[in-house]
Amino acid sequence: MIITVINGQNHKGSTYNIGKILVGNLGENEVHEFFLPRDLNHFCTGCCSCIKDESLCPFFEEKKRIMDAVEKSDILIFTTPTYCMRTSAPMKAFIDLTFTYWMSHKPRSSMFSKKAAVISTAAGAGAGSAIKDITNTLLYWGVPYVKSYGKAIQATDWEHIKPELKEKINKDMAALAKKLRNSKVHAGIKTRFIFSMMRMMQQKGMGAGEEERNYWQEQGWLDKTRPWKAA
Ligand SMILES: Cc1cc2nc3c(=O)[nH]c(=O)nc-3n(C[C@H](O)[C@H](O)[C@H](O)COP(=O)(O)O)c2cc1C
Repeated sequence: MIITVINGQNHKGSTYNIGKILVGNLGENEVHEFFLPRDLNHFCTGCCSCIKDESLCPFFEEKKRIMDAVEKSDILIFTTPTYCMRTSAPMKAFIDLTFTYWMSHKPRSSMFSKKAAVISTAAGAGAGSAIKDITNTLLYWGVPYVKSYGKAIQATDWEHIKPELKEKINKDMAALAKKLRNSKVHAGIKTRFIFSMMRMMQQKGMGAGEEERNYWQEQGWLDKTRPWKAA
């Protein structure tokens, strides 16, 4: 299997370590790992040139390195510490910088066969909403199988997590890895519904432009082809 891990932080704290345990439980695989902001240290400038042509984005090359790995992966793992009850700012910047991958723009058919896990830790509260920022993105990317793991760890670093909680985390990661390995993927009703709404929008010329409509046409999605069938 091919796995891409995107860490919404440069440091190797609790969240990173939980992701690492998960990757370890998935066995021998080709793993691509990225750290944000180290590997994409930019904010979207709002120029929207990517809507016309993604290679016009000033940060295209850095994004491409990450998204090429994402596209060829079977499993995507996202980790983010909970910051002010949301995903980390570098992870949010990454989400913004990849917005053309959303079904509202130019979704990639490879996404419709992927599995993903999203991990966040908080000292106390907010991991759920930090995770939601990413699971929502994955839904709009078309990824049909997404598992999340949010944990209040009552600590600010990995070293200070209580041993019994670490033991629980180890067990949870073994179980999550088993699910990720064994589950079958199929595009569910939510994915298909969003896709059909976006398709209708493109058909009616209500998308972001001609380039986008042409893309949908080329994929055959304005006719009978569907990305989850091609996958
Ligand atoms: C900028 C910042 C904001 C934070 N916001 C929250 C928060 O909203 N809720 C919470 O429970 N913990 C919050 N924390 C604590 C971290 O989420 C928590 O310690 C987390 O486990 C850190 O993960 P890491 O070891 O991977 O960095 C915050 C920490 C920082 C540095």
